[in-house]
Amino acid sequence: MVLKKQIVTAALPYANGPLHIGHLAGCYLPSDIYARFQKAKGNDVAFVCGSDEHGVPISLRAKAENKTPQEVVDFYHNLMQETFVRMGIEFDHYSRTSSKVHHETAQEFFKKLYDQETFLTQTSEQLYDAEANQFLADRYITGTCPNCSYEKAYGDQCENCGKALSPDELINPTSALTGNKPELKSTTNWYLPLDSMQADLSKYIESKKGIWKNAVYGQCNSWLKDGLKPRAMTRDLNWGVSLPVPDTEGKVMYVWFDAPLGYISATKEFMPDQWEDYWKDPNTELIHFIGKDNIVFHCLIFPAMLMAEGSYVLPNIVAANEFLNLEGEKISTSRNYAVWVHEYLNDFKDRADEMRYVLCSIAPENKDADFSWEGFQARVNNELVAIFGNFINRVSVLTQKYYEGVVPEANNSAVEEDLWKEAFWFVEAIETQIVNYQFRDALASWINLSRLGNKYLADQEPWKTIKTDQVRTNTIMHNAINLAALIGVYSKPFLPATYSKLAQPLKIENAPLEYSALSVPSGTQVENIPLLFQQITDEEVTQQQEKLKPKDLFKLKPMIQYDDFAKMQLVSATIKEAKKVENADKLLQITLAVSDDEDKTVLSGIAMHYKPEEIVGKQVTYLANLAPRKMRGIMSEGMILMAESEGKLVFVSPESTIENGSEIA
Ligand code: 2FM
Ligand code: ZN
Repeated sequence: MVLKKQIVTAALPYANGPLHIGHLAGCYLPSDIYARFQKAKGNDVAFVCGSDEHGVPISLRAKAENKTPQEVVDFYHNLMQETFVRMGIEFDHYSRTSSKVHHETAQEFFKKLYDQETFLTQTSEQLYDAEANQFLADRYITGTCPNCSYEKAYGDQCENCGKALSPDELINPTSALTGNKPELKSTTNWYLPLDSMQADLSKYIESKKGIWKNAVYGQCNSWLKDGLKPRAMTRDLNWGVSLPVPDTEGKVMYVWFDAPLGYISATKEFMPDQWEDYWKDPNTELIHFIGKDNIVFHCLIFPAMLMAEGSYVLPNIVAANEFLNLEGEKISTSRNYAVWVHEYLNDFKDRADEMRYVLCSIAPENKDADFSWEGFQARVNNELVAIFGNFINRVSVLTQKYYEGVVPEANNSAVEEDLWKEAFWFVEAIETQIVNYQFRDALASWINLSRLGNKYLADQEPWKTIKTDQVRTNTIMHNAINLAALIGVYSKPFLPATYSKLAQPLKIENAPLEYSALSVPSGTQVENIPLLFQQITDEEVTQQQEKLKPKDLFKLKPMIQYDDFAKMQLVSATIKEAKKVENADKLLQITLAVSDDEDKTVLSGIAMHYKPEEIVGKQVTYLANLAPRKMRGIMSEGMILMAESEGKLVFVSPESTIENGSEIA
């Protein structure tokens, strides 16, 4: 078999927020399964990715958080890289676009196009903020949406009604930097002449008909039908890759110019001496995994850049997925409506494979899909645990019980012939489906192997034959062990952590991903396989569902007048003593100094949150004129103010120590 050379890429995630399950299902999981599979088949694969650290949203986030863009991207780059590792997404190299190699690579590429006069130079009037001394990217301009009158629409889109906008359509445009009204100022930028490349791009896209998914091919065709227009590859911004051209200070590359070049720079970092053997060899297959919002950039703009440069291979496959919804609603980063992958991994320790299994089984390959926690529970409990886990466990237990782990001889009958015919049929299906990017189907074929195994055991009943027919039992168990091994070997691309748990005890560490090979010969000493999965409990489901509910932090009560407020006498006071109240778990008895010579006794329901000795000396806010009330035989004179957040109580204290008895109003 001729081995293939492949560059497999996964879209560079923006380093302005954590990864959510939609990212995994849409891009990172399918690409990881694909790359693991191709490598296991012996192909020569470079699987690369990295953080996309430029672009306006990152600058805006930095500004909002009063940080530098570098601080923002450092934080999210590290978080994402760690999350990928924990999730078993195994890139050969994970880079970042703020790296030196990337800046150099992008600049070299840009310079070549610039020197050979690929770009059109165009001077145009753009919105400018004189006070900030900066041209304003579309996202930096806000105003009233002409469509729905929402007052905080962005210059490129209204987030209220979803309409795509251009900044000149906004009513009362203002600069997000200073709030000033922007003015027009002329500026020069460099454009990729997509219009004059239309014929070549059409030919390229036409060659993908029937190969790329209909949705991908269709979207490209509709862009081509509308007629391509020159597109600016530079921006007037401070954050990004600077231009290797004199007198261009304050300008950087358009983020969609430098980001796809990140695939090249990541390969360069991974293989400094060999990267050109991949990127510049026409025998290399270049395969991009992306979400559907990235189609035009990978199918038209990046190929146009590569064609213009001339020495690189073009993308062979752009495997674009649709979107994943969550409990019937769109995942929203800005509303914090998502299952964040790092939080999942904290809540479900060492259970990455459960999420991999479920996301792959519902992957939005041809249409949007929906993730629900109940669905997650059902897939894990009814499939991973009840079908796969159950088969492996039964085989393992019986092998130890009947043979102390030594694989018996087989004397196969027609039943076994049928068994393997069917098993190989499923395995062949897995292989075909993976190379055709049908990961959902491939996973379904894989779980069918375990269904088959369970049926074989149920029909052949080795627990009965063991009493009557040793030879037959040997045959059944020999075959069951080898079927378990085959399932184990093919779990490798989908569930890598599970594979690691199985491989050693089943002695299949070196078994090839080869469906005709039976890998555990008689006489092999296999070991007990630990329990692979646990059920997802109803409680775990409820907890996760609760996390998604919007939190009512603030609900306005009926209005009061100032006089109502002024009736309360709020003063500062210091806790002198505190002790537990007998037979009352929640109450502390507190002695408060409200002036030099006056103390008050207050009962406060904070015993579950503070130990008495922790709070002595603390200055607090005291409601002095609340009518006294007797509790547990003790008179409580007033109340100490507390704030509550997510079940935690904290004191409302003056910012710095003041005299006790000072009025608070
Ligand atoms: O949509 C996104 O998240 C982009 N950061 C993807 C970039 S893919 C590639 F071109 F780098
Ligand atoms: Zn609108």
